[in-house]
Amino acid sequence: MVAVAILAAGKGTRMKSKLPKVLHGLGGKTLLERVLDSASAISPSRCLAIVGYGSDRVRSTLASFPNLEFVEQTEQLGTGHAVQQLLPYLEGFTGDLLVLNGDAPLLRPQTLQLLLETHRQNGNAATILTAQIPNPQGYGRVFCDAHNVFQQIIEDRDCTAAQKQNCRVNAGIYCFNWQKLAAILPNLKSENDQNEYYITDAVNYLDPVTVVDVEDYQEIFGINSRQNLAEAYQILQDRVKEEMMVAGVTLVDPDSITIDETVTIEPDVIIEPQTHLRGKTTIASGSRIGPGSLIENSEIGENVTVFYSVISDSTVKAGSRIGPYTHLRGHAEVGEGCRVGNFVEIKKSQIGDRTNIAHLSYIGDATLGDRVNVGAGTITANYDGFKKHPTVIGNGSKTGANSVFVAPVTIGENATIAAGSVITKDVPDNALAIARSRQSLIPDWKPISNG
Ligand code: UD1
Ligand code: CA
Repeated sequence: MVAVAILAAGKGTRMKSKLPKVLHGLGGKTLLERVLDSASAISPSRCLAIVGYGSDRVRSTLASFPNLEFVEQTEQLGTGHAVQQLLPYLEGFTGDLLVLNGDAPLLRPQTLQLLLETHRQNGNAATILTAQIPNPQGYGRVFCDAHNVFQQIIEDRDCTAAQKQNCRVNAGIYCFNWQKLAAILPNLKSENDQNEYYITDAVNYLDPVTVVDVEDYQEIFGINSRQNLAEAYQILQDRVKEEMMVAGVTLVDPDSITIDETVTIEPDVIIEPQTHLRGKTTIASGSRIGPGSLIENSEIGENVTVFYSVISDSTVKAGSRIGPYTHLRGHAEVGEGCRVGNFVEIKKSQIGDRTNIAHLSYIGDATLGDRVNVGAGTITANYDGFKKHPTVIGNGSKTGANSVFVAPVTIGENATIAAGSVITKDVPDNALAIARSRQSLIPDWKPISNG
């Protein structure tokens, strides 16, 4: 049995923010959510977040996280003091306790798994996650003897110049035998440079203790500043892009592209520069996205092209061509083989197969059939100032340039709407509707000049 505790009570002074540090966003999730996500992968029997600074906000942000318990640390007297707060909550608990830092969001679940397995195999009292890092400044240093047996952790500020040369650092991530830890927690002292209770002291009291070196030291990267937040984003992006490319996706100029981990892309998709893919977006094989596009929570079918466009919460089916300068939003569904072109906005509408909306249109709350040709500048007037109303246009119909559909209105199949018409009444199948004033002619209007 394993319980997880996440240290998340600190303010994060160097963030210079009203927001508690662990609630800062990183690639679409808060830092704390990222830590919780890695923790869930090991299916803990309990999951406790130790909160303090801004705890109301932390609690409400994570209220919907399943089975998460909150433990209040009203005064932040150090990492050891934070873990002491667990004593009443874990009374009688006989399993292991995994302690994670709320500000270390890049940890892979496999690493936690390895830490836990090593801990169990050795029957340890404590197992520490360590990393050999090129610039260890600021981290506690972990010392082992010649046989790699753990000796002690010394905080950076308490290290001598010689001790600071040690590049093996404490990640701040530990696995404890809870019963053994609980027995010594009340004995922690705050006799150090910061007058804080250190969890690292508890480690120094326990036996046996071994260390697990993480292979990729970037995993233990902790966020203390906005600069760190930007660096962590880069690390996450590099991971995602690497995975995508290995899986057969072409990223033209990866540095100018951003992709959330929640995005799924099939092989043989080409992502052009300055393209941003977010949320629960999926892109099927053979599609070419970008340059200059943003796609969010949308589903793109096979062999689609999207060019300088913005798509959110929408669907585009196979073989359609979108852009340049198209905005699909609020559940727009574009069928197969469509052309949606220049300066077109589609909101909450279904567009059938092989329908073209090629120039300068607004289509909102509408249902268009197959093979409809929407003329340049066609607009659905869907809003009467109070409510939104639907427009329906049947298969094979054509709308003339600059036609306006004053909704609610229904156009049948194979109907034709003359250019410049303002359509306020339904049009039956196969009809031609003209709704504009006739052209008048006044001959010889221009006076003849008499010199
Ligand atoms: C700690 C470790 C250090 C390790 C480093 C890794 C100690 C004494 N030192 O140092 O060896 O290299 O992490 O990042 O533990 N927190 C609370 N309550 C408190 C104090 C802190 O919840 O009273 C939380 C913070 O919000 C943060 C985490 O604990 O998420 C770590 O605290 P921090 O003060 O950043 O510890 P470090 O000095 O970085
Ligand atoms: Ca820290």
